[in-house]
Order: sequence, then structure tokens, then C-alpha cells
Amino acid sequence: MLPARGDFAFGLPFVAEVATAWELPYVLSNVTCSTPLPWPAVRSFDKAGARVEVYGIAHPELKLPGCSVMDAGQALEGIPVSDTVVIVLADLGRTAESDIAVRAPGVDFFLRADSTETLSTPEALATGALVLSSGARGKLLGVATVEVTPGARAWRDAGASAARATDVDTATTRLTELATRKAKATDARELSRLTRQEEFWTKKQATARTALDLATATAGPTNVLNNTLRGLGDDVGEHAPTFALVAAVKATLTGSQSAPAEATPAGAAAGIGSWVGSAACTTCHAAQAAQWSHTSHARAYASIVADDRQFDQDCYSCHITGAFDGTGPTDPRQLHGLENVGCESCHGAGKAHIAAPTTAHLVREPPTSQCVQCHDSRQDGGRFDELTYRPKVAH
Ligand code: HEC
Ligand code: HEC
Ligand code: HEC
Ligand code: HEC
Repeated sequence: MLPARGDFAFGLPFVAEVATAWELPYVLSNVTCSTPLPWPAVRSFDKAGARVEVYGIAHPELKLPGCSVMDAGQALEGIPVSDTVVIVLADLGRTAESDIAVRAPGVDFFLRADSTETLSTPEALATGALVLSSGARGKLLGVATVEVTPGARAWRDAGASAARATDVDTATTRLTELATRKAKATDARELSRLTRQEEFWTKKQATARTALDLATATAGPTNVLNNTLRGLGDDVGEHAPTFALVAAVKATLTGSQSAPAEATPAGAAAGIGSWVGSAACTTCHAAQAAQWSHTSHARAYASIVADDRQFDQDCYSCHITGAFDGTGPTDPRQLHGLENVGCESCHGAGKAHIAAPTTAHLVREPPTSQCVQCHDSRQDGGRFDELTYRPKVAH
């Protein structure tokens, strides 16, 4: 296991204590501290005759008092090229992975955690190292089985070769279609649009061909990888002991620390700082308010209540109004009537405007940059599409 950046929010001693209590098999290879870390820089074991080494690479931006984070390439470049299966746990992105692979050619796999990119089949880097990524939020679990052949360096993955071949086919089909449409097109704008699409698919085709070559390169003996992703849907049962632990923690959060998320007393004005809440806007903008009330923004708070996550610091910020602004709510138990994605989530804080509507103006047409603060391609499962989403909120 690789301790992630967020795990250190309560400091290194806390993480060390938890890891020891739960015997978490942490590994951290590029961090050195004034007092030695309680985890090794590499973990190794033998399995069915093969030797396996696991390294963990902390993000370069990790800040820990008394510690320094070393460059990943530097930390790993001493690994010899051998029969040992070398696995690097990291979450650094493709460019960094490629750089590290060049400096440390002994690495076989980069295993990502919590990456926004889900790779249904592993992707080969130029050195032959493979990147495996099951994606964020624990929705998919990756299971990889390996068969090691003595003396082999290259990996063969039947699933990946088939997928890359399909990528090449798809690009080729699109290019043929585009060529036919271009031959018929007469309008200049249509032509230039088709040319841009053609450029896009030509690039895709080239990338797919390179990836296919890499996935099928089989000079000499090869090791075999079989990688599958399992969806953690309803067909996968709960792990009873873990489920009980989570339920107990939720009960402490909902029970001891809170009144139920504060209901604004009748007659009391909602709001905090420069935020006033949607109810203050409806009298003057009844039409917009009526339209808004039919969007899921008006019910966004209920969604996290239904999930029993309303007191979770990781959840409430996008499901209420004003949490991204310093003067807005900062405590999930004190909402000041700002539940839901209200008017001000898009138009900006409204206190000054309600006092002087014709002089203190709000944003008339909220830009998409405002939407993607919440529709961040991570928590929303990458569903945001400007062209289909914007019309749904217009009023
Ligand atoms: C403060 C965070 C936030 C901002 C800003 C925001 N949204 Fe949303 N949006 C959400 C949340 C949360 C939901 C899900 C509500 C639910 O169902 O619980 C959502 C849902 C939606 C949906 C409904 C999706 C569906 O099919 O059910 C659309 C459409 C949408 N947003 C468009 C936009 C657009 C366009 C903008 C910018 C003009 C925007 N949003 C700005 C948080 C936000
Ligand atoms: C960065 C902003 C953000 C955070 C943080 C966030 N959400 Fe959301 N959530 C969204 C957006 C945006 C949507 C709308 C997605 C869509 O339909 O396009 C959404 C939709 C939802 C929905 C309804 C639709 C669905 O996907 O089932 C639920 C339930 C939900 N979120 C729960 C949560 C929980 C639980 C957390 C905490 C782990 C959380 N959200 C944290 C932005 C966020
Ligand atoms: C998800 C983002 C979003 C939310 C939430 C939202 N709006 Fe808007 N609003 C827009 C967009 C986009 C426009 C510009 C397009 C349009 O006119 O519909 C707009 C335009 C407006 C306008 C200007 C209309 C005009 O004729 O120029 C008013 C007034 C307004 N909104 C009020 C409200 C009020 C009041 C609420 C809450 C009840 C609200 N909005 C909630 C996105 C939002
Ligand atoms: C007392 C009545 C009143 C209230 C309350 C009010 N508005 Fe307005 N709003 C107006 C008037 C009047 C205008 C037109 C201003 C102009 O054209 O000079 C306006 C304009 C707007 C516009 C267009 C951009 C601009 O500022 O000209 C938006 C967006 C808007 N209001 C959103 C809101 C939101 C969000 C709230 C709640 C926080 C709100 N309004 C509360 C009266 C009100």
C-alpha cells in the first residue's frame, strides 16, 4: 500500500500510529525524514518461484515536516534489469511514468491508485513497462495475475493486444467515413470541420498503431499478464466486518457531534458572510426560481443525505452553496440555509445585490469555468458535457 497525500492530513505520527495498529503494509521509497519512517523503502517476497519487489512513490508535492521527497527517477534508477517482477505504486501521470521508466528500465509495472483515468487494459510505455489503473473512488477493483518465464523481459497481454487492434480499426473506419463525407461536402465550414476531424483521427490512428506494436512485440520469451477490472456493484456483497466499522464511524459522526444539520429557524434570515441563500432571490426572480426548482441542483443536498454522507468533509462542498468561497460555510453541520446548489453557486454571492439590485450586479451568464469547479470530471464520473448540460440549467 502507498500512503496517499490526503492520508497525511493529520500528520505523520497519526498515520504511523494507524498503520502500525492495523498492520498496513505501507511502502515508501522516495521519502527520507530526520527520524526514520516506520515503513520500508521496498517490500519483496517470493511467490510460486518468482521474486517480486514493490516500491511506493510519494507525490513530489507531498509536504511533511522534517522530511524530503526525492525525485522518483533518482529513487528507482538503481533497480537492476532482471527476472524480478518490479512493481511501482505511484499516481504521477503518464509523462512522469514514462520518464521514470527510462531512468529505471528494471520496472515492470506502474500500479496507479485513485487516478481519474481508468485503463480497461494495461498500456505499454516505450520501455515495455506497463501502466495499470483501475480509476478513482474505488468503483472498480483491478485483479492482475502474472506468469513469469525465466529469462523473459517482455510482457504479453492478450486483452491489451485485442483492445489496441480495435482502437486501430475504429480510427481507420472513422477516417474512411470522413473521406466519403469530405468528397460530398460543398459548404466551406463543413469542409474545414471535417478536415479538423480527419486530423484528430489521423493522430489517433498513429498512436493506436504504436500502442499495438508495443502490445504485440514478442521477440524472444515473454511473461504473461492477465488483467481484469471488477465493478463493485450490488452483485458484490458487503464485507461484514468492514461494513460494521464504517457504520460505527458514521454513527459517531451523525450522533455525538451534531445536531441534525441545522435547520434555519422560522423567520430567521439564512446566510453567512456574503451568501444569502436561494430563498432570498425568489421574490424578484420568480421565473428563474421556478425553473431552477425543477433541476437536480435544487435537490443536491438530499442526494448526500440519502447516502448518509452529509457530514462528510469530502462530500458536502459541491452539494451546498458557497463552500468554495472563504466567507461561505466551512462546517458540514452549520449550513445556514445554504443546502443545495443554489442561485449563488452559479451567479456569485448575493448579499450586496439584494440590497441594491440595480447597482450591485451579479454574473448574468455564468461561464463554464464556474460549472467545472463541481463538475470536475472526477466526482461526477466525467459526465459533464457543456453542450448538453448548459441548456438544462438555462432559465
Ligand atoms: C456548487 C457545485 C455545482 C456547480 C457550480 C454547478 N453544478 Fe451542476 N450539479 C452539481 C451537483 C452536486 C449535481 C447533482 C445533483 C444531485 O442529483 O444530487 C449537479 C447536477 C447537474 C445537472 C444534472 C445532471 C443530470 O442529468 O442529472 C446538470 C445538467 C448540471 N448540473 C449542469 C451544470 C451547469 C451547466 C453548471 C454551470 C453553469 C453547473 N451545473 C454548476 C453541482 C454543481
Ligand atoms: C467536486 C464536487 C463534488 C464533490 C466533492 C462530491 N460530489 Fe457528488 N456530485 C457532483 C456532481 C457535479 C454531480 C452530478 C453528476 C452528473 O450527473 O453529471 C454529483 C452527483 C452526486 C450524486 C447523484 C448522482 C449519482 O452520481 O449517483 C450523489 C448520490 C453524490 N453526488 C454523492 C456524493 C458523495 C457521497 C460525495 C462524497 C464522497 C460527493 N458526492 C462529493 C459533485 C461533487
Ligand atoms: C447551474 C447554474 C445556475 C443556477 C444554479 C442558477 N442560474 Fe441563473 N443563470 C444561469 C445561466 C447559465 C444563465 C444565463 C442563461 C440564461 O439566461 O438562462 C442564468 C441567467 C440568470 C438571470 C438573468 C436572466 C436574463 O434574462 O438575463 C437571472 C436573473 C438568474 N439567472 C437568476 C437565478 C436565480 C434567482 C437562481 C436561483 C433560484 C438561479 N439563477 C440559479 C445559471 C444558473
Ligand atoms: C429586490 C429584488 C431582487 C432580489 C431580492 C434579487 N434580485 Fe437579482 N435583479 C434584480 C433586478 C431589478 C435586476 C436587474 C438589474 C439591472 O438590470 O440593473 C436583477 C438582476 C439580476 C441578474 C442579472 C445580472 C445583474 O446583476 O444585472 C442576476 C443574475 C440576478 N439578478 C440574480 C439574483 C440572485 C442570485 C439573487 C439572490 C441572491 C437576486 N438576484 C436577488 C432584483 C432582485
